This record gives sequence, C-alpha cells and structure tokens, in this order.
Amino acid sequence: MHSKDQICYEDYQQTADWLLSQTQHRPKVAIICGSGLGMLADALKCQDSFKYADIPGFPQSTVQGHAGKLVFGDLKGKTCVCMQGRFHMYEGHSLCKVTFPIRVFKLLGVETVIVTNAAGSLNDTYHCGDIMIIKDHINFPGFAGLNPLNGPNEERFGPRFPPMSGIYDKHLRQMAFDICKTMGFAQFVQEGVYCMVGGPNFESIAEAGLLHKLGVDAVGMSTAPEVVVAGHCGMRVFGLSLITNKVVKSYEDTESVNHESVLEVSKMRSETLQTLVTELVSRMDIN
Ligand code: 6GU
Repeated sequence: MHSKDQICYEDYQQTADWLLSQTQHRPKVAIICGSGLGMLADALKCQDSFKYADIPGFPQSTVQGHAGKLVFGDLKGKTCVCMQGRFHMYEGHSLCKVTFPIRVFKLLGVETVIVTNAAGSLNDTYHCGDIMIIKDHINFPGFAGLNPLNGPNEERFGPRFPPMSGIYDKHLRQMAFDICKTMGFAQFVQEGVYCMVGGPNFESIAEAGLLHKLGVDAVGMSTAPEVVVAGHCGMRVFGLSLITNKVVKSYEDTESVNHESVLEVSKMRSETLQTLVTELVSRMDIN
C-alpha cells in the first residue's frame, strides 16, 4: 500500500491549475486543520469551497471529524486556503498522497503553511486543553524509511537532501507566543517537540515510556510528512498541537484514550486556537 504510486510534477500542476481556474483567491497562507479543528476554515470570508472528491487528482479523506473540503477565503484581509481534514498514513495513503496538497499549495503561490493537530502529551507539566507551539519534530516513520521524499528527487520543488534544522519558523513561534500573552492564553500555552508515530492504535505503555525517555512532549499520527515536504519546497512552517489527552505511561493507570475524547477536547479549545491562528495570520507581513 505504501509502494510508489509515483506522482509527477505535472500531476500537482494539473490540480493547481484546476483550482486557479475555479477561484479568484490567490492564497499566500495554507492552514491544515487537524482532528476536530475544522472550524478554523469556517472563519474565512468570501469562501470558495471544494470537496476533495470534486478536485481532480486529490486524495479522499476517511476519518470521522474531518470534513474533506478545501476552503479558500480571507482571514483578516489575508488570503488563505484551509484543508478541512487531512490525509493520514494510517488510512492507507502513500506519503506522496498524504503530502499531495502541500505541493499543490506551493504551485498556488503559498509561502507559509500552518499545521494543526490533536496530540497526546508525554510532558508531565502539560494539561488537557493546552496548546503546544511546535518547536521541532521527530519523524518516527522517517527513521524506518517511510518518507514522502523517497524516490527520484523533483528538483523543481527542492534539493535532494533538504535540511530540517530550524524548520519551525522561529519568528512565527515568537509572534504566536506574544499573541498568547496579549490575549491571556499564556497559562495554557507550551512550546515543545512533537513526535509522529504511524498509528492508528494509540501507544502501548512501553512505547509511551520510550517516547517519554526520548524527550518527546506530544505524540500524534500526522504533521511530520507535510512539514518535511513544505520544508523541501522552501515554505515557511508554523505548527500547533492541541493537547487532547495525557498519554498513559503507567501500568497503574486505569484510563485509556479514545478518539471521541480527543474530539471533545478539541471542541473545547477550538475557539482559542482559531483566535490564535487568525491573529497570527493578520500580523504576517504578506499581501
Ligand atoms: Cl495519546 N497518541 C497518538 N499517537 N496520537 C494521538 C494521541 C495519542 N492523542 C491524540 N492523538
């Protein structure tokens, strides 16, 4: 299933050209909405929206809590495109499918990608409902050779061996933190390392212990592939994890995580997250 159903430059271009022919919007910012965070897209003004199923070349989303729409519109005067629902490796998509939209965004003229996700925390100082500004990531599937950049390199997007140091833009992280302080969110905002695992099962206790020892602050099943591809083609990246649960790390712990509780917490903080992203976009020196 993860074999190379190779996608070529012209495939991305075809989808981008189709979208450009269907909307007047010319976004500079793309926002990927994680589980239960789709309402970020609802805030866009003058919307043009496209179901994934109707976009030539686009993969299809299968997860509950993900709408499966691409929404173009204005956020505080900045033109954005929002993915309401992303693609996950555990759905059976190859990583080139998972990251297909990122390269399409690049061809639309997008320069900044904002990624959001729901994640479990391993850091004992974090609480449910905290917002974690992603400082860096660990791409676990990448260690095992599951990387969206596998295969012949497409030089028109970027170099064979792209760096990943400093991939989460420092200036945007600082701006986000300042916004949180101004808006009174500082007490539930963290900055930390996100680790992607393949899923779809949540971690065993031994696996959670391993991630904890590695210094991981939050774990989830997405984001790293999109960020790797965005970095490869030179886009600026900002990422937020909504901490929806604490990862079970002890054999004495009787509670276990489930997808419904993840969606519940994301609903609770969705407005705050929307405010933060909106304010961040409005302060960007673009358009
Ligand atoms: Cl606890 N683990 C993983 N892998 N993903 C999550 C999560 C936990 N909570 C939300 N997403």
